[in-house]
Amino acid sequence: MSDHLTVVDHPLVQHKLTLMRDKGTSTAGFRRLLRELTQLLAYEITREMPLTTTTIDTPMEEMEAPILAGKKLALVSILRAGNGMLDGVLELIPSARVGFVGLYRDEETLQPVQYYFKAPEGLKDRMVIAVDPMLATGNSSAAAIDLLKEAGANDIRFLCLLASPEGVARMKDLHPDVPIVTASLDRELNDKGYILPGLGDAGDRMFGTK
Ligand code: URA
Repeated sequence: MSDHLTVVDHPLVQHKLTLMRDKGTSTAGFRRLLRELTQLLAYEITREMPLTTTTIDTPMEEMEAPILAGKKLALVSILRAGNGMLDGVLELIPSARVGFVGLYRDEETLQPVQYYFKAPEGLKDRMVIAVDPMLATGNSSAAAIDLLKEAGANDIRFLCLLASPEGVARMKDLHPDVPIVTASLDRELNDKGYILPGLGDAGDRMFGTK
């Protein structure tokens, strides 16, 4: 992927995103839309998955047909909201391996601190897609990418629903080699680190915790 940031402007993506942003959308509706939107974005972010060919017999004749090459993709959820994006991708790529990164923000240093990390083996040979619906300050996203690189990953992409200009700039600064795919580059962050116009707290909306 040559561009650092890809905003998917497909009409279905934009329509579903509007429904997700609307505060009147129910928890069930939000979850369903998140799964659908994630699939549409996953289509874009997996565009460069390597292909090889295999010999098959169609009912008509033998052919050399394209098939995905290499090790299975690794999908990494940045907890907790990233979990809401797993099902959508896994429906498209059922054989993907799945990892998790848990980070919390230290209230004194304001820096992300790792509390959980579990990744599939052989990360260096896999395309890795890190998922988190909201790229806000970029602090936890950048820290999660640091951990994945430390674990050997060298072909990482970042999939989110919404990105802030601040988050994109931070990622570009710290991880210029990690392409970002999103449904929207929103206007700004507020002083609490929420994206505007945004969609609120993605975790609370998908899990119904508020
Ligand atoms: N996380 C969220 O869930 N929403 C935001 O707007 C920013 C970070």
